[in-house]
Amino acid sequence: MSKEKAMNSSWFITGTDTEVGKTWCTLAIIQQLKNQGLRVAGMKPIATGCRVSHAGLRNSDAEQLLQLTELQVPYTWINPYPFEPPIAPHLAAQRVGQHIEIETILNRYAQLATLVDVIVVEGIGGWRVPINAQQSLREVVLALNLPVIVVVGLRLGCINHALLTVETIARDGCQLAGWIANPLQAEFEVQGCIETLQERLAIPLLAQMPYLTAFNLTSLANALKVGWHSPH
Ligand SMILES: Nc1ncnc2c1ncn2[C@@H]1O[C@H](COP(=O)(O)OP(=O)(O)OP(=O)(O)O)[C@@H](O)[C@H]1O
Ligand SMILES: [Mg+2]
Repeated sequence: MSKEKAMNSSWFITGTDTEVGKTWCTLAIIQQLKNQGLRVAGMKPIATGCRVSHAGLRNSDAEQLLQLTELQVPYTWINPYPFEPPIAPHLAAQRVGQHIEIETILNRYAQLATLVDVIVVEGIGGWRVPINAQQSLREVVLALNLPVIVVVGLRLGCINHALLTVETIARDGCQLAGWIANPLQAEFEVQGCIETLQERLAIPLLAQMPYLTAFNLTSLANALKVGWHSPH
């Protein structure tokens, strides 16, 4: 992706489930864009399972995104909705009498957008995650007007999850930028799975990530150089 093309393009990163590699892929995208000299922000607007700290609730995904982007902004710009229990966000919000407002997320996003060229927004869980009694991630993405990248965690069952996820995102009226193949198991027949998904998903494969026994930002970011397209 050229620097010019990446300017003003931002993405929303979702996945086939929770724990499928959304954060690893988001960090890889940020690093790759930084390598091109772009100013990038990461965002994790809603997070559960947060740690209690003296400064307030902290989510490790949001902290990693903030650390990598090296932005001097308040933590709450990156993660306006942190919740302590590791449960669904609308339930976590309910427990503390809070209502997740899309407007608040939009305001934080707009503030960040004044500082950077690109914002990479990590979702929470999979696609059909409710954020309050009426709305789900769909409404967040439609309001942000961002193309979606789907991280497919390659493991048994992922073909079904990937097809359902991509079909639903398209039906929900959101734009799809492509998908990332992210292996989660050492002993998994990755190639057959990727070929099947390439045949059945009408969106580009943006990257095939390596299987890593330990997090390695350079090798994840390098994987994005091949087949990485700007949605705009
Ligand atoms: N390419 C990979 N190779 C090997 N293991 C991976 C890979 N990507 C992710 N994992 C494993 O999956 C775990 C979860 O990854 P990650 O935190 O990126 O998922 P997530 O989708 O962001 O999760 P959450 O829903 O909690 O935000 C990692 O800690 C790692 O153990
Ligand atoms: Mg994550």
